[in-house]
Amino acid sequence: MLENIPEIFRSITDKEFRVLTAIENKMKFYEWVPIEEIVNFTGFELKELEYLFGNLAYNKLIQRNIQAYEGYRIYFEAYDLLALNAFVKRGTVNALGEVIGIGKESIVFDATGGIIDRRVVIKFHREGKSSFRHVRVKRETTGERRHLSWLYAARLAAEKEYDALVALYPQVNVPEPIDQNRHAIVMSVAKGQLLAHSKLDEPGWYLDEILKQVKIAYTLGIIHSDLSEFNIFVNPDGCELIDFPQFITPAHPNAKELLYRDIDNILSFFTRKYKIMRNIEEIINNIVI
Ligand SMILES: Nc1ncnc2c1ncn2[C@@H]1O[C@H](COP(=O)(O)OP(=O)(O)O)[C@@H](O)[C@H]1O
Ligand SMILES: [Mg+2]
Repeated sequence: MLENIPEIFRSITDKEFRVLTAIENKMKFYEWVPIEEIVNFTGFELKELEYLFGNLAYNKLIQRNIQAYEGYRIYFEAYDLLALNAFVKRGTVNALGEVIGIGKESIVFDATGGIIDRRVVIKFHREGKSSFRHVRVKRETTGERRHLSWLYAARLAAEKEYDALVALYPQVNVPEPIDQNRHAIVMSVAKGQLLAHSKLDEPGWYLDEILKQVKIAYTLGIIHSDLSEFNIFVNPDGCELIDFPQFITPAHPNAKELLYRDIDNILSFFTRKYKIMRNIEEIINNIVI
């Protein structure tokens, strides 16, 4: 399982990474990548490949199919390792730590990175995985290539989230974007703790801080679209917004509706937990000037 990623990562050799990269690349063209293609891509001899396949299969990183011909594909976990390897090569990550969050469509790790070994966070997107069944159905009707869908869905989500952080940081309090590869992003650790798990002494002040951040984000062209007490950190200095892969721009046809829903989620939370009442229309008008 994915929680073993740090140990597996340490045990994977450069040659094994080369095999994973070969299969990843050729999966653009095959549902099951023929062994000959892997030989061609890596330049390794068949005998050596057999040995490498053994290790990779043992770690549940690749899957073999021998129905029509001998073919391979990688599991999602291999994709995690390939992204992690890219970060390590670039020096944005030096060591992977613990799982610190399992979200609806992601798994988030604590890590250290950079020249000064500061704490960072790696978020591995999982979008394609949860919609896998849905995609399978779609494939039967459209002939879409199912075997690529999870790679694409998760990668697109990571790219989109990274773009949002780049657009917002540092004007809006969001994690600093540090690196992005495949379906993963590296960012700074959000300060404080989740709003959902906090007991605030000055809730009204925090609500104003959150609305301020939402407004600046809007002026920078970004509407969160999944804002809730589970995607906001609070700390003594204010708040930090996270989890942006589904953002839209103010030009989007549903912009008004989604901005309304974001604000409504926050106001409802503050009413429920802290008995604070605010006028949503006034707030929206103040954001959309
Ligand atoms: N930059 C970060 N710093 C600290 N914790 C984070 C950070 N990003 C994500 N997390 C943790 O991981 C969890 C899931 O991340 P999130 O971005 O909300 O993804 P999802 O779309 O799966 O909800 C969060 O609730 C939070 O606990
Ligand atoms: Mg979230």
